[in-house]
Amino acid sequence: MKIGIIGAGNIGGNAAKLFAKAGHEVAIANSRSPETLAGLVAEIGGNTKAVTAEEAADFGEIVFVSIPLGKIDELSPDGFTGKIVIDSNNYYPDRDGQIAELDSDEKTSSELLAEHLKGAKIVKAFNTIWFEHLKTQGNKELPIEQRRVIFVAGDDKEAKKTVADLIEEIGFAAYDTGSLREGGKNQQPNTAIYNRNLTIPEASAILGSQGY
Ligand SMILES: NC(=O)c1ccc[n+]([C@@H]2O[C@H](COP(=O)([O-])OP(=O)(O)OC[C@H]3O[C@@H](n4cnc5c(N)ncnc54)[C@H](OP(=O)(O)O)[C@@H]3O)[C@@H](O)[C@H]2O)c1
Repeated sequence: MKIGIIGAGNIGGNAAKLFAKAGHEVAIANSRSPETLAGLVAEIGGNTKAVTAEEAADFGEIVFVSIPLGKIDELSPDGFTGKIVIDSNNYYPDRDGQIAELDSDEKTSSELLAEHLKGAKIVKAFNTIWFEHLKTQGNKELPIEQRRVIFVAGDDKEAKKTVADLIEEIGFAAYDTGSLREGGKNQQPNTAIYNRNLTIPEASAILGSQGY
């Protein structure tokens, strides 16, 4: 699959390595220029290239957005229409500034991204796992029930399934927390599942749902 990655930091860079290792084509972007990513692209290996953010959006059948939430308005919505977009972003006011719609709980951060990238199929995922754990805790040898869960939320079932399959390919298990609204709330910082190493049965015991 072709995966465009916007944000080449802790999460974007490490997700890129896992996707490339699983055999996917990766195009990765940061805010500066493709030239500044030469070292990272060599480290990622596989079929990977450095591009601009616009090119990453055009390239990906899946586009993985992993930048500070306060920067999402910098993304041009062109190129995202109809695409599956993985949203790993979290709201940290100290970093992102106060955002009234999030402070009042009127919206979730993924709903803000969905508003900005109109026509994209947003799936909130990879936002509850610390990058050091993303690097090391996937294990394809384990049966699904024993693997660490990566949570997914979204309004498009097919898009969520595609992302769930990708998560399983890199050695984790996927767990559906619901819509962008309800699931998005379940996955926010400081919730019971945030930054926790949980299997599907353990997550079910907390969330009271079956996951998939
Ligand atoms: N760190 C974690 O363990 C973790 C875990 C789960 C979720 N998250 C969330 O995931 C997101 C990324 O976190 P991170 O720790 O990976 O961040 P990070 O290491 O600070 O990296 C951020 C990346 O975003 C790029 N960027 C910023 N603005 C951009 C723009 N307008 N267009 C393209 N690229 C842009 C930066 O490029 P430049 O360097 O060129 O500016 C950099 O490559 C955040 O929302 C964070 O809250 C983080």
